[in-house]
Amino acid sequence: MEQSLTPVAGASSVGALLDWARVRLASRRGSSGLDAEVLLGFALDRPRSSLIGFPERGVSAAETARYRRLIERREAGVPVAYLTGRREFYSLPLTVSSATLVPRPETELLVDKVLERLPTDGRSVVLDAGSGCGAVALAIKHRRPHCRMVAVECSAPALRVAVSNGVRLGLQVEWIRSHWFDALANACCDIIAANPPYVATGDEALVTGDLRHEPRLALDGGVDGLMSLRTIIAGTPRVLASGGTLLLEHGCDQTLPVRNLMDRAGLQGLETYLDLAGHDRVTVGRLP
Ligand SMILES: C[S@@+](CC[C@H](N)C(=O)[O-])C[C@H]1O[C@@H](n2cnc3c(N)ncnc32)[C@H](O)[C@@H]1O
Repeated sequence: MEQSLTPVAGASSVGALLDWARVRLASRRGSSGLDAEVLLGFALDRPRSSLIGFPERGVSAAETARYRRLIERREAGVPVAYLTGRREFYSLPLTVSSATLVPRPETELLVDKVLERLPTDGRSVVLDAGSGCGAVALAIKHRRPHCRMVAVECSAPALRVAVSNGVRLGLQVEWIRSHWFDALANACCDIIAANPPYVATGDEALVTGDLRHEPRLALDGGVDGLMSLRTIIAGTPRVLASGGTLLLEHGCDQTLPVRNLMDRAGLQGLETYLDLAGHDRVTVGRLP
C-alpha cells in the first residue's frame, strides 16, 4: 500500500507502477485503470497487452520518471490523447495535438449516417465542415474511396494536423482553410457533415473538466451553444446541391432549435438519431 501512495522514484516494475498510477488516478471520473495502462504502454513503447501479462517486468529509472510525468499531467486533467499524441477514430489511427479536438466516439454516429447515404461506387462530393484533426473526413474517405472529399477548417494548426493524417494514411482529401463555407462555390456538394462547436460559453465544463485542455475554438458555440450551428444551417442552401443532405452533430438538448433552424432553411424529412448513450446527437435533413 505504501508503494501506491508514494511517488515512484528509481527503477520499478510494471505491476508496481500500474498499482501506483491506478491509485493516483482513482479520484478522476472514468477509466483510470485503462488510462494507467495506455500511458505505461506509451512510456515503454509497448502494446498494452504485453504489460498486463508480465507485471514483474522491470522498468528502468528513466522510463519510471517518464511515466510519472505522464501520470501527473493526466491527474491534472490533460486528455490521454494529448499525452500520447494519438487517438483511434472509426478504426483509423490519428495524430492529434492540442490544436485539435480529441475525436469522440459519439461522432462515429455522424460518420455512420453519412455512409448510409453514400453509395459505395458513387462519385458524390462530401464536405466535412470543421475538420479538426480530419477524423470525419478521413473516416468517410477510407470507407468510400470513390467520393470526392472536401474539408474546411478555420484553424491553421488544426488543418496542418489533418493534412499530415491524410498523407500518413494515404487518403486524399481537399483541405481548405475557410470560415465555414466562405471559400466554397454555390451548390458544390451533395452531402455536408459537421460536428461544430456546440457547448454554451457559460457551461462550467469548459473551465472545470478535461474540456479546458481542448481548443475553445472547437467547443465554444456562443451564448446558447448554437452560434456555429446557426451559421452552418443558414449557409447550407447556397453550397448544398438540390436534393443534397445536411448531417449535424449537436448537443442532446439542442434538438428542437436545430430542427427549427433546419426547417426554416428549407431542409426537409428531418430525422434525429440517438448516440450509444441514448442521447439525441445527430439531425439530418434534405434540400428539395
Ligand atoms: C467540435 S470540433 C470537431 C472536429 C472534428 N470534426 C471532430 O469531429 O473531431 C469543431 C471544429 O470546427 C472548427 N471551427 C470552429 N469555428 C470554425 C469556423 N468559423 N470555420 C471553420 N471551422 C471552424 C474548430 O477549429 C474545430 O476544429
